[in-house]
Amino acid sequence: MTSPSPSPDLADLLARRRSAAPDALAAPGPDAAAIARLMEIALRVPDHGRLAPWRLVLIEGEAKARWIERLMAIAETREDAPKARVSTRKLADAPLVVAVISAAVPGHKVPEWEQWLSAGAVAMNLLNGAEALGFGANWLTGWHAYDDRATALIGVAPGERVAGVVLIGTAAERAAERERVRPDQVVTRLSP
Ligand SMILES: Cc1cc2nc3c(=O)[nH]c(=O)nc-3n(C[C@H](O)[C@H](O)[C@H](O)COP(=O)(O)O)c2cc1C
Repeated sequence: MTSPSPSPDLADLLARRRSAAPDALAAPGPDAAAIARLMEIALRVPDHGRLAPWRLVLIEGEAKARWIERLMAIAETREDAPKARVSTRKLADAPLVVAVISAAVPGHKVPEWEQWLSAGAVAMNLLNGAEALGFGANWLTGWHAYDDRATALIGVAPGERVAGVVLIGTAAERAAERERVRPDQVVTRLSP
């Protein structure tokens, strides 16, 4: 296999990608063909041991409206209800929500940590893939990724974990650039 030819446009997209604010995401979301393409991109991640230790749940339309209603009902019962309410509202605007669930195989010779990292790569590919297809996206967790009653709504089984939900839609506006860590702050070179 030879190296791929350089793709300056792709490099530019990766270097400039920016998450969209959840409330800046609106319809139209990706159609069936775009979702299929996005899934192809999302699942093309390094995966030690070929365990496919992740799965995705697509949430849109009527199912999304019901999901948010049910989340809101659970949010109201929490001690941090005002905060949980705000965090749940962030899920409301994007036409497509993709829940990324880490389904790591415990006790396997491939450490669970490596399997969790692979789920993170799926979420990251969703962000980059959405941008490449002309959509905005944002990767969130929040209380609903950790509350068992909330995770049960999307079928998260015992032992599985929510790596996050990726909100996807048409970004009404590009988010302002945020301050970035400079390479010289975090990158060092091993001395001989
Ligand atoms: C695992 C994970 C969970 C996150 N959860 C939240 C969250 O619950 N709420 C939030 O405002 N941002 C959350 N973020 C950060 C958002 O994705 C944020 O918008 C993003 O870091 C913006 O930076 P970017 O433009 O470099 O992508 C989370 C990020 C990651 C990686």
